[in-house]
Amino acid sequence: MTWLITGGAGYIGAHVVRAMTDAGERAVVYDDLSSGIAKRVPQGVPLVTGSTLDADLVARALAEHEVTGVVHLAAKKQVGESVEQPLRYYHENMEGLRVLLSAVTEAGVRSFVFSSSAAVYGMPDVDLVTEETPCLPMSPYGETKLAGEWLVRATGRAHGLSTASLRYFNVAGAASPELADTGVYNLVPMVFEKLTDGAAPRIFGADYATPDGTCVRDYIHVADLAEAHVVTARKLAATAPGTDLTLNIGRGEGVSVREMADLINDVTGYDTAAEVTARRPGDPARVVASADRAARELGWSAKRDVRDMVTSAWAGWVRLHPEAARTR
Ligand code: UD1
Repeated sequence: MTWLITGGAGYIGAHVVRAMTDAGERAVVYDDLSSGIAKRVPQGVPLVTGSTLDADLVARALAEHEVTGVVHLAAKKQVGESVEQPLRYYHENMEGLRVLLSAVTEAGVRSFVFSSSAAVYGMPDVDLVTEETPCLPMSPYGETKLAGEWLVRATGRAHGLSTASLRYFNVAGAASPELADTGVYNLVPMVFEKLTDGAAPRIFGADYATPDGTCVRDYIHVADLAEAHVVTARKLAATAPGTDLTLNIGRGEGVSVREMADLINDVTGYDTAAEVTARRPGDPARVVASADRAARELGWSAKRDVRDMVTSAWAGWVRLHPEAARTR
């Protein structure tokens, strides 16, 4: 099989490309390089530079590389930005997906893996979120992921495509320092940035109904997440056309913001007390996956723990910010 990996020059996408090629699959990267980095694409993997909104380019890429499966990660993913720019998010994430799926059905591609998000659940009021927990996204970003799942499933049914939507929980870490996340939009890099600046990391609220009052999340190592894509892609390639899977990709273990901040101090050698600030609007108290369905359907479960995530993310951070190591 040859897999077209959209967004394959991005943080998560580059890990997926690497996991797929390590597993012996052929990969082609399709990325508009708006946030992706060409250097992340390994030697020997073709890179097609363009948007999934470009129907002609997508069709050419599928034909020229004889693509038989697609892993679609290319999307805008900042929750706050999506609230300010819903039209842009619906255009890029939904229209980009529609154009891609249209080309995919024309080209006779058989398998389609869609990058979804725990953001589809919104503020779930359950201990462990299962795939049956009602989806009530709280942002245009989450809406595009949920509606994207619907479009993927409907297209699969109508056109005999095997599909999967993987709902990522909180992704962190790096398989190697040069593949680390360069964005500072999530807890781990935001804490790293504060420490590097000699400032106190911020905890957005310590008055939640959780054991230590801070929000609880399910952090998953990006290398584990990438491996879940490989197993999913192979499973789809081996299943009957029209099969659809919707899977949480998490570890099923809750870690609080305070626990994460303490662990980061421990790993980095800093000893900077975090400062509790006001709650960030829209943050749910607890979002932790039930990882049972992925284990059952894929025979996959995460192997790496939170310390692996922080240690590997820090190695990537120090590579980009050498002063972080020096100012200790
Ligand atoms: C974010 C996205 C969510 C997406 C998920 C996984 C938002 C609002 N949500 O979730 O849609 O599904 O990533 O990709 O962006 N925190 C601090 N201090 C900081 C930074 C974060 O206390 O400096 C807290 C947050 O309040 C939250 C937790 O850390 O409780 C994790 O935050 P973050 O990494 O931004 O991810 P989520 O908001 O859980």
